Amino acid sequence: MRIPVESVKVVEVGPRDGLQNEKVTIPKEAKIEYITALADAGLKVIEAGAFVSPKWVPQMADTAEVYREIPKDPGVEYPVLVPNMKGLERAIDAGVKSIAIFTAASDTFNQRNINMTIDESFENYAPVALRAREEQMRIRGYVSTAFGCPYEGDVPPEKVLEVTARLLDLGCYEVSVGDTIGVGTPMQVQGVIGILLQVIPAQKLAMHFHDTRGTALANTLAALEMGIATFDASSGGLGGCPYAPGASGNLATEDLIYMLDRMAIETGVSLERLVAASSIVGPYLDHPLPGRYLQACTRGVPFATKTPVQ
Ligand code: HMG
Ligand code: MG
Repeated sequence: MRIPVESVKVVEVGPRDGLQNEKVTIPKEAKIEYITALADAGLKVIEAGAFVSPKWVPQMADTAEVYREIPKDPGVEYPVLVPNMKGLERAIDAGVKSIAIFTAASDTFNQRNINMTIDESFENYAPVALRAREEQMRIRGYVSTAFGCPYEGDVPPEKVLEVTARLLDLGCYEVSVGDTIGVGTPMQVQGVIGILLQVIPAQKLAMHFHDTRGTALANTLAALEMGIATFDASSGGLGGCPYAPGASGNLATEDLIYMLDRMAIETGVSLERLVAASSIVGPYLDHPLPGRYLQACTRGVPFATKTPVQ
């Protein structure tokens, strides 16, 4: 197998994508401790929360306080989700330097998620992106339902390309291509990436796999083979979108780091410290964390070697 990637940037989305779907309200102090521990584990991009409507996603209501109180590591970027101008104003007020705007490749999901069609979302984001650029903010983009929509089914790859290109035109430095409901499979992933790469350089693309059907790690490998070097993941496998019914967690960061470590692909992330970070948030939840590596650690499954196998 030839992987044309020597190092991977991991975007940790646990404190946002991971927690947004949890029913139990996690105390602000625990979120801050969790984010701090993720930075200590060596993660360089940690999504710290979302300035979305607290009526739509109550768990994210304290993002401003969380953001203000995280002890900022100067080498770490702490993006937050912003759905509209009101969200951007809240982000500016909290001193945020990096935002993520999010839309989808299917209209029905987008309407359920942000109450806008795809075209309406771009009308909404144009002034948001302009203002964010004036504020010297970095802007990341998300395309949800890139591999399938819970309401519309199959999604044409050409639509994924169109939405990704529109996000880049707004000034996003990178677009994260999302398998929101974890339906993608490796050949499909390579097909979509192949179409994107005809127009967009790999450096501007990230993959965001949910692991609903257990295909996230296989899809990651398929994307690595295509030269993609940025992956979103959630510590412990936390996660899911409240507007994608039944959607479960993201690819677990520990599972991703374990695989990359053993393939001698650099990430700068300490697996032990990552497990420690997940163990901060885990006890607050009303269910066990689904990540496989974490579960193996919890059960004490022995494995002594850390030597990469290429
Ligand atoms: P709306 O109801 O159409 O908004 O929601 P509105 O403009 O009509 O405002 C209604 C009320 O919300 C008003 O308050 C506004 O002030 C308030 P009221 O007058 O009723 O008291 N409001 C806000 N409050 C705080 N912050 C704001 C804000 N905006 C309006 N920013 C809206 C539209 C976009 C706000 C709503 O649909 C929303 O917040 N959606 C976010 C849903 C969400 O967070 N989903 C999960 C994240 S996306 C995801 O998980 C996918 C991803 O991981 C990638 C993947 O997996 O594919 C990124
Ligand atoms: Mg997601």
